[in-house]
Amino acid sequence: MVSASGLHDIDLTTKIGSLTLAYPTLMGSGCYGSGEEFAPFVDLAKIGAVVLKSVTRHPRLGNPTPRLVHTPAGMLNAIGLQNPGIEWYLEHDVAKFAGRPCTIVGSVAGFSVDDYAYVCELLGQRSEIAAIELNISCPNVASEGETFACDPRLTGKVVRAAREVTDKTLIVKLSPNVTDIASIAREAQSAGADALAVINTVRGMAIDVETWRPRLGNVTGGLSGPAIRPIAVLAVYEVARAVTIPIIGQGGIETTSDALEFFLAGASAVSIGTANFTDPRVPVRIVEELRAYLAQRNLRSLSSIVGRANVGFANAQQYEGDEG
Ligand SMILES: Cc1cc2nc3c(=O)[nH]c(=O)nc-3n(C[C@H](O)[C@H](O)[C@H](O)COP(=O)(O)O)c2cc1C
Repeated sequence: MVSASGLHDIDLTTKIGSLTLAYPTLMGSGCYGSGEEFAPFVDLAKIGAVVLKSVTRHPRLGNPTPRLVHTPAGMLNAIGLQNPGIEWYLEHDVAKFAGRPCTIVGSVAGFSVDDYAYVCELLGQRSEIAAIELNISCPNVASEGETFACDPRLTGKVVRAAREVTDKTLIVKLSPNVTDIASIAREAQSAGADALAVINTVRGMAIDVETWRPRLGNVTGGLSGPAIRPIAVLAVYEVARAVTIPIIGQGGIETTSDALEFFLAGASAVSIGTANFTDPRVPVRIVEELRAYLAQRNLRSLSSIVGRANVGFANAQQYEGDEG
């Protein structure tokens, strides 16, 4: 039996590039504002990091409404990257992130390689931002609208361009809407990614049978929540066999057991998105329950279980003999 003080000796820290997070829980981009909105409900010091809503070079109004549709095990969203653009963001928003009790990760989206490089360079100069996540699930206007994240060559190009302009920890967020996610992950690593976020939303749509119209103003959207969890666990499993950099697993995590599936598949951290809309205390509960789970098994660190369900996990040998 582990005492309450013993529980606090359990090491939940995780390394993502040059960042050491006290807790292995990040809040998904677009699902947690900048953290401040959740402060009345949650002690922000008890979460690993907040990933901010993606910002683009130019302001964007976003997609026509409706932008959200509930589905039986999740939701479809088509927000359309609504944001004020990088110039306004730097002038009015970023300074507010200084002194936050948790790590703040910026998220960058774009429609050309130059867009990404431009925004990464500016954001990378700000000390309030600890790391940059590249949301590459956007169409490239110079390549007939092909999505950056769906082509290894385009992924490589955009990651290299970002890597050249910033020394900040670079997390590349992969899309599940591909045939071979491992090849894209490998390309992102060799182009200079420090970590991978796996996965973004899964493409989907819903139709109103009374009006015979698509239910989203944008027609199609991205599915998130528990419906996509098995897709995400498989993606983490496959990516973990292909790369040696840390993986932040995400997609439908609502409980500690859900998060554990991702750690066992090979993720070093998890990210929680849609679950925050129904219960903002989920991330803190997961941290407390992870400690109890490890203690019951006489394990002292979270890192000792990373990849344990993944034979062939690229870093598996690093964790051998770490128990007790
Ligand atoms: C309303 C909403 C807005 C989102 N906005 C972004 C965004 O701006 N950038 C991004 O990279 N991902 C965005 N995402 C994707 C989430 O960060 C996350 O990767 C995805 O929803 C899967 O995790 P979940 O099932 O825990 O939500 C958004 C998701 C939702 C539901």
